[in-house]
Amino acid sequence: MTNTLEDNRPILEVCLTPALWDQHDPKDKNVVVIDIIRATSTIASALHHGVKKMIPVETVEEANTWLEKGYLVAGERDGIKIPHFHFGNSPFEFMGEDVRGKEIIHTTTNGTRCVLKSKGARNIVAGSFVNQDAIFDWIKKENRNTILFCAGWKDHYVMDDALFAGAVVRELADDFRIIDDSTLSAKLLYKHVRENMLRTVKQATHFKRLQRLGIENDIKFCMSNPQFDVVPIFDGVGFVKL
Ligand code: MLT
Repeated sequence: MTNTLEDNRPILEVCLTPALWDQHDPKDKNVVVIDIIRATSTIASALHHGVKKMIPVETVEEANTWLEKGYLVAGERDGIKIPHFHFGNSPFEFMGEDVRGKEIIHTTTNGTRCVLKSKGARNIVAGSFVNQDAIFDWIKKENRNTILFCAGWKDHYVMDDALFAGAVVRELADDFRIIDDSTLSAKLLYKHVRENMLRTVKQATHFKRLQRLGIENDIKFCMSNPQFDVVPIFDGVGFVKL
């Protein structure tokens, strides 16, 4: 007799900070890396605007070796552009003719590190509010156990990443199983504040930290929903358009 109560839906799990990554096993799972302000929003927007590949590297030193080889190099530490790099980490820097069709080395304080930590996963994609619907559709179509990996800030929890994770969980709650409280908490957080997300994020420490750098327009963009129809997928070297 078949057990009609058996639940075969895949599992959706949220890793709220890189400090908790060891509790998750990416093998055979899809991983959605989430760094809303700003790395994954920038990656999604850059690919949408015609950048060919965004190549994450862990350290400034590694990026320097690519710079010496003639590559375009982008990145920040503590939110501040590395002075001798071509670009920082603002989504607005990757929208013009000068970057169309280009491969760009990208190193950031938190987001790009999480991509490299996710190696071993079945697929790694970059999720953000700017490409939210494309990410919802992709996760649903894949129908596979999925980790939503929040980049946070230096191993600490940040609210904007958890909010996007919560938006995903809420959208896909019928198609996936939720089996832990991090995932449930992200969903409830999003449900509670979704009408006033920017106002809520303005109270967050991550917002205040980056606001001091004068990047409020970047933050507004990263919290907006222009619906770029792009799924940035990691091909083993960098993020390309699926
Ligand atoms: C990061 O990776 O830590 C962020 O994208 C920081 C930033 O906003 O530049």
